[in-house]
Amino acid sequence: NHYAIIMAGGVGSRFWPISRTSLPKQFIDVLGTGKTLIQNTYDRFKRIIPEQNIFILTNHKYVDLVHEQLGISHTQIIGEPVMRNTAPCIAYASHKISALDPEATVVIAPSDHLIQDTERFLEDIKLALDAAASHDMLVTLGIKPSRPDTGYGYIQIANESLAMYPEFYRVSAFKEKPDMSKAKEYVASGHYLWNAGIFIWQSKTMLQELKLHASDLHQLFLRGKEFYNTSDENNFIREYYPSCENISIDYAIMEKSRNVYVLPVDFGWSDLGTWTSVYGLSQQDEAGNVLIPNADNVILYDSSNCMVNVPGHKKVVLKNMHNYIVVEANDTLLICPINSEQEVKQVVADAAKQF
Ligand code: GDD
Ligand code: MG
Repeated sequence: NHYAIIMAGGVGSRFWPISRTSLPKQFIDVLGTGKTLIQNTYDRFKRIIPEQNIFILTNHKYVDLVHEQLGISHTQIIGEPVMRNTAPCIAYASHKISALDPEATVVIAPSDHLIQDTERFLEDIKLALDAAASHDMLVTLGIKPSRPDTGYGYIQIANESLAMYPEFYRVSAFKEKPDMSKAKEYVASGHYLWNAGIFIWQSKTMLQELKLHASDLHQLFLRGKEFYNTSDENNFIREYYPSCENISIDYAIMEKSRNVYVLPVDFGWSDLGTWTSVYGLSQQDEAGNVLIPNADNVILYDSSNCMVNVPGHKKVVLKNMHNYIVVEANDTLLICPINSEQEVKQVVADAAKQF
């Protein structure tokens, strides 16, 4: 049986001031499509996976928000008492789903990505679920890298594919978030793909890998065995989850496992990491400007390559502005040159102290 786990517990500080701790990126309609990123993610999966088999894992403080945005049953929304990154989230989900269905095959996905070609995406996911259901392996989806970006995991492909599913290649190394010189080397070599952050495997395969490479996490969740999917589950999680190590699945398992395969994909993927990436993916007018949502309250004079996201009624006038991002949310206005926003993370940390 097929299951989906949507991870929705991250904070996404680079989308400040729109995204904040109280409203992270996955709960925002970043591209102005009429649906938030998590709504799009859920809608995609429900086309190929029975809704009762789709679980959202998130921080307890976003549980109500998920319920509001997806309108799904509370049994599908799982709150984590504290943030511990994706390894504990996945370890918990793997134990819980195994208790429900020992033969489960799962797709685990972020809640905050853009997928442009849904049909191709679903074809790839179905293929990966089929392949993983009959093979004891960890499947990653690989994207052809377009620049040496240090924000991704890099997957080194071996020249060896599965007999029954020749689309899947063995992974000879997985390198999470390398430094810039390594990233350049990997991209230049032509042997690496970016990790899309979407994983497919049998829950029981993940349990074996956890036992091998993250035995503390494995032990911790094993203690809850008799409580999963009962009224005692919450109490167990509240008591034990905080003692999990804070670590991502990429460092805890993917870098260490010798059992990783990759399906190269091309369905129009972006992790929407920055305002610049949103700008690049949006419909630009002749002067290269992007207004989100289609803003009637913005007038541009002699301005180009700007992105303005000022919802509400405030009038915005730009004159002789080129390559700028102008974003307003709540009581905060951010203006910065389009390519310097990688630094926004630091600015947010500082601004948060002052505002
Ligand atoms: N439930 C839950 N709990 N979800 C979490 C937590 C947590 O503690 N922390 C993060 N998430 C969610 C985020 O909301 C996001 O949807 C997803 O898990 C991935 O976390 P990120 O924090 O966005 O990871 P990343 O972007 O730095 O790196 C990962 O994704 C890249 C592709 O975008 C890695 O898998 C990289 O290897 C990969 O290239
Ligand atoms: Mg991410």
